[in-house]
This record gives sequence, C-alpha cells and structure tokens, in this order.
Amino acid sequence: MQFPRGRQQAPTYQRGRKQLAAALKKSPQSVDVLARFDRYAPELWDGLAGVYDVEILWPAVMDVLARAINARPPTLVERDRSRQLQPDWFQLPQTVGYVAYTDHFAGDLNGIATKIDYLNELGITYLHLMPLLRPRTGENDGGYAVADYKSVRPDLGTIDDLESLATSLHANGIALTLDLVLNHVAEQHEWAVKARNGEEKYRNYFLMYPDRIVPDQYEATLPEVFPDLAPGNFTWDEPSQRWVWTTFHSWQWDLNWANPDVFCEFVDILTFLGNKGVDCFRLDAIAFLWKRVGTNSQNQPEVHALVQGLRAAMRIAAPSVIFKAEAIVAPSDLVAYLGTGEHAGKVSDLAYHNSLMVQAWSTLATGDGRLMAQALQGFAPIPTTTAWATYLRCHDDIGWAIDDMDAAAIGVSGYDHRQYVSGYYGGELIDSPARGAHFQVNPLTGDRRTSGSAASLAGIESAIESNDAQALELAMSRLMCGYSMIFGFGGLPLLYMGDEIALLNDQRYLHNPAQVGDNRWMHRPHMPWDVVAQRDSRATVAGQVFARMSALISARKSLASLHAATASVVFATDNPAVVAFRRRHPAGDLVELYNVSAQSQTVPTHSAWPFNGALVSEAITGTTVDLTEPTITLAPYAVWWLTAQPA
Ligand code: GLC
Repeated sequence: MQFPRGRQQAPTYQRGRKQLAAALKKSPQSVDVLARFDRYAPELWDGLAGVYDVEILWPAVMDVLARAINARPPTLVERDRSRQLQPDWFQLPQTVGYVAYTDHFAGDLNGIATKIDYLNELGITYLHLMPLLRPRTGENDGGYAVADYKSVRPDLGTIDDLESLATSLHANGIALTLDLVLNHVAEQHEWAVKARNGEEKYRNYFLMYPDRIVPDQYEATLPEVFPDLAPGNFTWDEPSQRWVWTTFHSWQWDLNWANPDVFCEFVDILTFLGNKGVDCFRLDAIAFLWKRVGTNSQNQPEVHALVQGLRAAMRIAAPSVIFKAEAIVAPSDLVAYLGTGEHAGKVSDLAYHNSLMVQAWSTLATGDGRLMAQALQGFAPIPTTTAWATYLRCHDDIGWAIDDMDAAAIGVSGYDHRQYVSGYYGGELIDSPARGAHFQVNPLTGDRRTSGSAASLAGIESAIESNDAQALELAMSRLMCGYSMIFGFGGLPLLYMGDEIALLNDQRYLHNPAQVGDNRWMHRPHMPWDVVAQRDSRATVAGQVFARMSALISARKSLASLHAATASVVFATDNPAVVAFRRRHPAGDLVELYNVSAQSQTVPTHSAWPFNGALVSEAITGTTVDLTEPTITLAPYAVWWLTAQPA
C-alpha cells in the first residue's frame, strides 16, 4: 500500500482504503478498484490537501465514490477495462471530434441516434453534445445556466434517453462528451433557491455579501466577461439581501469552491453522469473556479489542485472518463491546464488550444505566418499523456488572445494587430471578404471579440453574395487551409457542426427573444438535412466542402505521425506567407506546408526538409510532389502534407 510521503495523516488515508474495501465487499470489481485506489488516491489526497482540510473530507469523498462504484453498470466496467488497455484513445490520429447542439443537429436525443450513420460516414469517433442538462427557463446562456445536473432538458429527452444514446454511440465507436458547468449554477438551481431562502448550509455554496465592501475589493482587479450583456461581477439579490458573485450573467451564480461540500456534490454529479455513459467532461469556464483578492481571479493555483482531485476521484470510480479543460486564457496560462510542475499529467487530459485557433484566423487575415510561428513556438511542451483539443470554430466568439510580446517579436504592435484582425472579421474593413460581427466591444480596453460561422468568416458568404466564382474558390480554400491546421497540428481535432458543408451565418436568432441579445447565436446554425442529402454533388458549395473535409479526415487517420504524444514544431519558412509544421515520428515523418495567402507562393525546397531532393506523397490529395527542384510553388491557400513515398 502507498502512503503520501512525508505526511502525518497516514491513518486517515488508510482508513479510506478500508472504508472503500468494506463498501465494495461483494463487488466483483473490488480488486480493480483497490488497485486504482493505490494508484490514484495519492493524487486525490494531494489535490484535496491543496485546498481543504483533507483529514475531515476524506471519509465523505470515499463514501461518494463507493456508492458510485457500486452503481456502475457492468458494460461501463468493461469499457473501463478496455480503455485502461488503450489509455491513449483520445490521442490517436483516428480520433476525430464533432460538436453539435442536440436540437439543431437532430431534434432530440433519440434523433441523434438516427444520425450515427452520418457521423460514421464522416469518420467521427467523439461527439460533444452542447449543454443538454435542464437549464433555467428563458435566457440560459446556451444551456450554461444549469438548474438540475441530473435531468435532461425536457424537449431533448430524459436521462434514460441519454443513457441509451451513449450505449448506441459506444456500439458505433463514438465517445460522448458533455459539458460540466462547475463555476456556476442557474439561480433557479435548488442550491441557489435554498441559499436565497436563507438556509445557511446553501449560503455557503455561493459567494454572498451583505454590502459592497468585499465585492469592491475584488472588483478592483476583476475583468468583465460580458461587458455589454452583463456588466460587473456581482448582482444584488433582493430576496436574500445579498450581493451574489455572478461572473457571467446575473442569473448564473458562482459557486464557492472553498466549501468542501461543493467538491463532494460535483464528485456525485460526475459519477452520476459518468455512470450514464458519458466518456468525457468538458470543464466549462474552469479558469474561474477560485477567487483571490488583488488578482483577476482566474488561473489560480487552487484550480489545478481541485481538478487534480476531481480527476483522481474519477480515475478511481470510472477510469475510462476523461476531462477536457475549457480555459480560454492567455497563452502563458494555458499549458497548466494539461499539467505543469506538481500537477503534470494529473489534471485535464485535453485542453482547448485557443491560441492555435486565434493564430489560424490571424494568419488567414494577414497572409503572414510569422506571428503564428512565434506564438506557437513559445508554448511549453505538454505532458505526453495529454492532448490539445484543436478547433477552428466553436459556439463561442473568438477573443483575440494575441500576446503583446509575441507581436513585438515580429515587429508589430499587439494592440494594432488585435484591432486589425477584429476589424477584418467583424465586418469593419471594406476590402475584407469576411462576414462576421463584433461581440462584447469594450470601449475601456478597446477589446472586441468576433462572432460568425467559419464559412462566413472565411469569405464564402460574401463570395456567394457577389456571385464571384474565383472569390468563392479562394474562400473555400481559405476555410480548408484553416481546418487543415486544426487537423494537422496534433491533438484531438473538433469539427464544429455544419462547417463540413460550409454553413453560413444564421440570422434566425434575431427573432428569438431569448437569443436576440447575444450574437453568438449567429454561428449556432441548424443542420439543413436537405442540403446534407446533396453532399455528393460537386455542383454545390456544400458538396465541395464536404468532399474536401472528408479527404482531410481520411488523410489525418492514415498518418501515425499525428498521434498527440508527438509535438508539432511550427516554423516560418523563408517566405512569410508559408508556414510549416514538422512532426517527427518513427513510423514516418510529416512535413506540412501552408500557404496562408491568396497568392501563389514560392519557397526554397529545403523548407520541406527532410524531404528535399525527393519525390514525396501528399497525403490529402494522394498525389506525388516533386521536391527535386530548388524551389517549390504553392497555389493560394494550398496545404501540403508531405510524407515519404511508400517503398
Ligand atoms: C463557457 C462557454 C460559454 C459560456 C460561459 C459561461 O465559456 O463556452 O458559452 O457563456 O462558459 O458558462
């Protein structure tokens, strides 16, 4: 048996093991579970000790775990075993993600099951269904204001439907991801209702203050997430006569994670949903969990201790379950979500690569790859057991997280560059083909974020409008250039619903009172299945993009070098308009060249080292490329994924 080193608490720790063993006495799983306890309980202990009085909390956590383990269905126990034999399943080149709203994609949960063939056709093996737990009624931030974590939004189905969908997805080789909103709950959640009614236990679940003294201390250094929609970080709640911490909207009450009861509640929720077949939890707004006066109350060290605790608890109770961190933070803060220092390899398995996404759009606007190379080279290596979740678009706006130092290193001003790209995509520049809109313009900081669908941002909407075939061809290539970076960087690529058929901005939200104030709904379209039905036709934009996306996905799956345990080296070539990713792998190296401009570009052949001087294969088109001349020329937005020719 292992004990945490250098601590006096061994008896408590050991009693936890006995407590678990006793609770599992009759379970056929008990040998496995105790082995997992020995492996992960030290991480759980250390995580908890970083935040709470672990001596007191330990038995309560063991109790929640024991109940969850006893309730775990046998099919999921089997899944746990097979995942333990293939712990890198989410790092494989064959893993490809898809992100969709249940209702917009297929009506309801039962409808999703009828679309599995479509997902299989695309090669999808990981499905993130956007928030579907019961939210508050009315405005609910796209489901991120949860009123009940153990029931499903009634129009989408029931918890039983969720469970049977998970079973069908698993049978078809698709893992299921759901959001876990753990920074806040809806003000209609039972905990908030009880707090509002004065129950002391539940008041301690939230951050509630009788006057402005403490809120003002925090507010002095807090940014605003939604300066337009929901200014400030505290809301006066009349019934309780308290200022309540509300980082996002006034009806999303931040939880008090300093309270160990909140931790136990979430272990209970995680195991409940994990036992319904959820494979991966997207940890929503995870950066905000811990508050500290004098800081921006994001990325605090305690966040990582808490996630380590939650993950270790899940490794004991439901080891096939993984975490994906949604931390849309500065590049320098991001790697910590996959684990650095004492938390390396012990926190989230996946984290969104927000910086790659921003850099992809930025290069496509400027036609210059140098800033991307500079920014991505600055990233510390990630633990080899983890992976980036790579994406070009998601349901949120694009926040232009471009570091001033990175910009300065290539001789531009960070502020000016952010103004340029937000102007380019936000519909402000006359010569820009992009059709997006500003989101949350902050006059104080000059910050402005961008809404818009990938296809509209890439210029497809404006090209169709102006009936310009050449512009349309360029725009489709621009879109595919961005998506190729996402599929070729290494990590788990996420295809956002509708991008495979180039769906344009959807203005329907303007007629929906619960959505009209939030233009992120313009890039949350509904799946037009009549258009999808025509996907084999090359006569349509949808058909052409679908074919190109399918080829990209097949190429990705064929390349062992795209396993996430290998990192990409990103560099600028001698021509600023051509950026290169290089991946070394014993099964065959991969060199990716991207022309990020709208003109043909020439680079010296040594940019494709180690393949210069040879005939090589291009993996996406399956053609042969001649690298025996001193220079090579790439068409506008061309992408070449180069590998040695098969012997
Ligand atoms: C995350 C979600 C975003 C939501 C916010 C608050 O950032 O992606 O859509 O508004 O969290 O829950």
